[in-house]
Amino acid sequence: AATLILWAVIGYGLGAIPFGMVLARLMGLGNLREIGSGNIGATNVLRTGNKKAAALTLLLDGGKGAAAVLLARLFAGEDAVMLAGFAAFIGHCYPVWLGFRGGKGVATFVGLWLALAWPVGIACCLTWISVALFSRMSSMAALTAAAASTLWAVGLGYGHTLVLGVALTLLVFWRHRSNITRIRAGTEPKIGQK
Ligand code: G3P
Repeated sequence: AATLILWAVIGYGLGAIPFGMVLARLMGLGNLREIGSGNIGATNVLRTGNKKAAALTLLLDGGKGAAAVLLARLFAGEDAVMLAGFAAFIGHCYPVWLGFRGGKGVATFVGLWLALAWPVGIACCLTWISVALFSRMSSMAALTAAAASTLWAVGLGYGHTLVLGVALTLLVFWRHRSNITRIRAGTEPKIGQK
């Protein structure tokens, strides 16, 4: 139990690093809260017009999800792996440093899947890319990828991740409440649009 608690804390700590916010500050792009959706993720960093910063945010926010899983696997074993990944996701969405007002978890979600069960991670990436190509909406792509992730997980032979998958999917939807409202109203901005 102590090991599990430790890995939940490590996962949360990694996830709670708001890379988008930090990069935007360091690179002089301004306060993400006052830009676009106000979110701290790569999609909103892109709205500053800086593609490099957005790509880096995507990579680092994904990387922290992957890192939590891989470190847990390396040092603690399979028992702690899903918990560490889940904790990283929660850390990103509810970081203590930002008064628990964090991101929407999409990059971290994909990163943790890539490390936990890479075929599921790849399938989620492909789902995201396909939907993004025709909808041009990051949120729409994320919601579809999140919804499909559980199907991918079960279909690709990772049925043991079902509970984690469902929990992550529900949380991704919950975090995209404002996006869902905008999608329904037809006012959700296209990728790169300010
Ligand atoms: O990854 C978050 C994305 O799905 C939506 O971001 O800034 O458009 O709300 P945003």
